[in-house]
Amino acid sequence: MKHKRSDFPDDFLFGVATSAYQIEGHGQGGAGMTHWDSFAATPGNVVNAENGDVACDHYTRFEDDLDLIKGAGFDCYRFSTSWARVLPEGRGPVNQEGLDFYDRLTDALLERGIRPCATLYHWELPSPLADLGGWRNRDIAGWFADFTEIIMRRIGDRMFSVAPINEPWCVSWLSHFEGHHAPGLRDIRATARAMHHVLLAHGRAIEVMRGLGMSNLGAVFNLEWAEPADDSPQAQQAAARYDGIYNRFFLGGVFKKSYPDTVLDGLEPYLPYGWQTDFDTIGAAVDWCGINYYTRKLIAPAETPWPSLREVPGPLPKTQMGWEIDPAALSRFLLRTATEYTGDLPIYVTENGMASPQRSQDNDRIDYLDQHLSAVQAALDQGVPVKGYFVWSLLDNYEWALGYEKRFGLVDVDFDTLKRTPKASYFALKHALASE
Ligand code: NOJ
Repeated sequence: MKHKRSDFPDDFLFGVATSAYQIEGHGQGGAGMTHWDSFAATPGNVVNAENGDVACDHYTRFEDDLDLIKGAGFDCYRFSTSWARVLPEGRGPVNQEGLDFYDRLTDALLERGIRPCATLYHWELPSPLADLGGWRNRDIAGWFADFTEIIMRRIGDRMFSVAPINEPWCVSWLSHFEGHHAPGLRDIRATARAMHHVLLAHGRAIEVMRGLGMSNLGAVFNLEWAEPADDSPQAQQAAARYDGIYNRFFLGGVFKKSYPDTVLDGLEPYLPYGWQTDFDTIGAAVDWCGINYYTRKLIAPAETPWPSLREVPGPLPKTQMGWEIDPAALSRFLLRTATEYTGDLPIYVTENGMASPQRSQDNDRIDYLDQHLSAVQAALDQGVPVKGYFVWSLLDNYEWALGYEKRFGLVDVDFDTLKRTPKASYFALKHALASE
């Protein structure tokens, strides 16, 4: 790698990220059924109908996986807690074995000198709550607040940082408008409700954790740069709508206590009654902003109902996901987020990485990481308070609707034997993090 630790400020943190359903092996330890289990079991939703039953079997192999994190010299580990592992029915009886698992995971991190950075919800919703409408039901804010209290009363005292919800756009728009993720709906009213309720749940969780005396609480957004496909005003307006839906709706709710007009224009009739009165909760003060960044999109207008836009293929080199590689957009996002939304608040790149078919000598990933670290540096040079960078992901894992084929890991996983083999990118980062 071109970069090394000393290129960054002394207090800059390097981490690696995963999520529960993608690695743990949800079939073990008494976890309850989630909407991802039934989504994956429905033909047509997931490549090869693959699910997270076994995944990387991190549930039994976590000590070895944490050794890999320590071995590379990372400062932080961003993991998620599975709601259904802790509360198999989503509410009510606690699965002690599940709570114990996160307790042991936390202690095992601290023993290795790694900071635990938790995300409370990374997409697998307990089925009994999905049956009640899931993110469409306003009550989910209370259910999530209760889960937050239960899990944080157990491990909250040892967390370095906590974010309630990973990528609210995916939880709501991708899953309720595009139907690509569980629960697989394509319904604008369901979407508007989910978009609002996911932010309400975020705010309630922040309030609960403040009540427990916790600090270093944040919010994690997936941002995708919207580039007009051409110079026409129509393309620019379409890109602005995409930017509104994808980025500004969620950032605006949390940091400005308002939603942008570009989104209200289409979504307001479908938002839940009284949404305007929820912003004090949604906008509860946070201590940092997390940005998951992977790509940009070229956006053109379309003759379809609102939001009347379509994505067009772009000319840049692409990853195994077909996503264009555009590190400059990460710099622009970091600067824009600080300038327009977060001011002096610390910003973390909470996810960045690429899927690649190169299972051992993954030079494409080394380049990708180098280019995006340069983008972070460019933002730092412009005064953006970026405080850390997390690679997605430690291990090859369950890439949701795309199953196990798309490999994001620094460490290869053979899904027949579950053997872990660090790739060239793992060793490159290890060298970079150790070098002065
Ligand atoms: C974002 C998500 O948080 C994660 O679950 C997913 O695997 C990566 N992006 C790659 O698509």
